[in-house]
Amino acid sequence: MGDFSDEEKAAMKKAAGIAACEFVKNGMKVGLGTGSTVKYTILELGRRIREEGLKIQGIPTSEQTEIISIEQGIELVNWADCSGLDIVIDGADEFDSELHLIKGGGGALLREKIVAESSGSMVVVADATKKVQTLGDFPLPVEVNPYGWEQTMRRLQNLCPGEVLVRKNADGSTFLTDNGNPILDACFGSTIDKPREMEAVIRSIAGVVEVGLFVDIADVIVLAAQNGCEIIRKENSRI
Ligand code: 5RP
Repeated sequence: MGDFSDEEKAAMKKAAGIAACEFVKNGMKVGLGTGSTVKYTILELGRRIREEGLKIQGIPTSEQTEIISIEQGIELVNWADCSGLDIVIDGADEFDSELHLIKGGGGALLREKIVAESSGSMVVVADATKKVQTLGDFPLPVEVNPYGWEQTMRRLQNLCPGEVLVRKNADGSTFLTDNGNPILDACFGSTIDKPREMEAVIRSIAGVVEVGLFVDIADVIVLAAQNGCEIIRKENSRI
């Protein structure tokens, strides 16, 4: 996959984030993902609103994205007034050749999945470091209910060949999602070759709120490499 400097990675994220805006048209309802790549998408949408009069409505996938979206002048709606979205643009921690994803590195997996499943199509913005042959090198985020999380963790550990870690903040306290739940990061290694089955098995553990496997949801990857952006479409892509 090659080694990239921080500057090169930032340039690739920016290129992918901006290129994905091509899929956003006037009047669309847009799911706004979370992370350092899709942040560039939100900034570019803000620019188009200000400079080109683009009219869109959005639903953010995290409190962090909500703040940036408001700063950019994106009109936000909520689920009480919106029964579906045209498109979601979001990042990923890993994707494979079938466009199955691992997400949740930023802790927003539950809201990201609700938004993605409610969208007519999903565009993923990623740099070349996210492309893998088999999912799982990136620790799989699993959001769990706070009640009895230790037992949920033991049951998850029984499925996982590597360690399962409770996600921590920089100060050592337990990381909690915007929904008030802890995240367990399960170190499967590159072994998740049947992501749909794995998602179902993990979901069947009581206490699991959501799993960071996004199977058959992404339509397009906007992949930035050092020499430009590549659009990778799933065979039966909706866009
Ligand atoms: C947040 C996510 C992010 O989309 C994922 O972690 C990618 O983030 P980045 O673009 O910063 O690498 O799933 O929950």
